[in-house]
Amino acid sequence: MPGLDDHLHLPCGVVLKNRIAKAAMSDDLGDGCGSPTEAQQRLYGLWAAGGAAMSLVGETQIGPWAPENYGNLVLEPLREIKHFHALAEAATANGTHFWAQLGHAGALAVPVSGPAKAPSVLDVSGIHAVEMTAEEVGALPDIYAKAALNARSAGFTGVEIHAAHGFLLNQFLSPLFNRRTDRWGGSPERRAQLLLEIIASVRSTVGPGFPVAVKINATDQLAGGIEEAEALDLVAMLEETEIDLIDISGGAYFPGAAAASDGTKAGPYFLDFARMARNRTGKPLMTAGGFKKKAEAEEALSSGAVDMVGLARALVLDPALPGKWLRETGEESVFPRFSSRPPGGVTAWYTERLRQWGTHGAADGQGSVEEALAQVERRKISNAALWKNHFRTEF
Ligand SMILES: Cc1cc2nc3c(=O)[nH]c(=O)nc-3n(C[C@H](O)[C@H](O)[C@H](O)COP(=O)(O)O)c2cc1C
Repeated sequence: MPGLDDHLHLPCGVVLKNRIAKAAMSDDLGDGCGSPTEAQQRLYGLWAAGGAAMSLVGETQIGPWAPENYGNLVLEPLREIKHFHALAEAATANGTHFWAQLGHAGALAVPVSGPAKAPSVLDVSGIHAVEMTAEEVGALPDIYAKAALNARSAGFTGVEIHAAHGFLLNQFLSPLFNRRTDRWGGSPERRAQLLLEIIASVRSTVGPGFPVAVKINATDQLAGGIEEAEALDLVAMLEETEIDLIDISGGAYFPGAAAASDGTKAGPYFLDFARMARNRTGKPLMTAGGFKKKAEAEEALSSGAVDMVGLARALVLDPALPGKWLRETGEESVFPRFSSRPPGGVTAWYTERLRQWGTHGAADGQGSVEEALAQVERRKISNAALWKNHFRTEF
């Protein structure tokens, strides 16, 4: 059974240098116009120096119409290519793989122009979305493929199709949000159809040697959403595709739902599901969620549950942690304790630490979740104006 320092051979032929990934995190550090900044170069440079085998940029948008936040990068239209290349150069130092997580927020998109679009009409807790037309849905496989191709031109060395956490493709998979009666709705197979078409389209466009991963939920942790039995059937469907890695997560960013990045319960979270998924697929499996200590990561690998361990918050606290684990220095990250936990507050606190690393090359453990939420909100307001002005001809 593998250890942290073992290579991982992906089905496409690419070899990752060890078993630690920097999990996808939306860093909110884009320039508000979909292009990378020097702060991102610094941040991804720190992670590359830190020793993880692969670094995923969260929520890299396939277009400007449905971002998760206005600090996201945008792959189509791909502007400021030299800034993408500078980011990729920093992020791929030290033999690090650098993958773009292909995102479209669907009903969870921040406002851009007109109502958000989703598989079916949605009108809950301040979220309003209209149903995508069959034509709009049918166009998505080509749009994801174009974005993946642009990701490769921009210097990314792989892509991950984001089908977790309540965003567009998770909405299509979910019986709660997908009530369509056309070929993309109904049975679990039909709700998975769009994701399978996107995987096929991305693979045929980028070719056989480029890593293509997918992130799915083990459970949406939402009444009426996807539960483990159905997620395992999805894993069996993914086994038949040309995917390189299945990245297992859970939860959603819908108001009132549990999100993995806001969780404070003891982890790791998704290993039991990963063990069951093993019986349904031979694809490499990764999970992020709740890893705090080296021993937990080692156990996840040596028990055979997963092939790759993803770290998000641990690598915000210390981007150099993988190297310390691999060199056996015995050092661990010290996780903060929060006296209050308003919804989204923990994620916002970590987002602010990402900003500190990117801006100053250092981060403190100070500040409350309330201050972090206020800072994230202020940035959202100023970046919204930039985004809408910059992309107005695209809507
Ligand atoms: C600040 C922040 C931003 C995140 N953004 C994303 C994202 O863009 N895409 C994604 O799939 N997960 C995102 N996540 C979730 C992480 O990838 C991960 O699944 C979750 O934080 C649990 O892992 P951890 O316990 O190691 O933090 C984010 C997490 C944090 C803390």
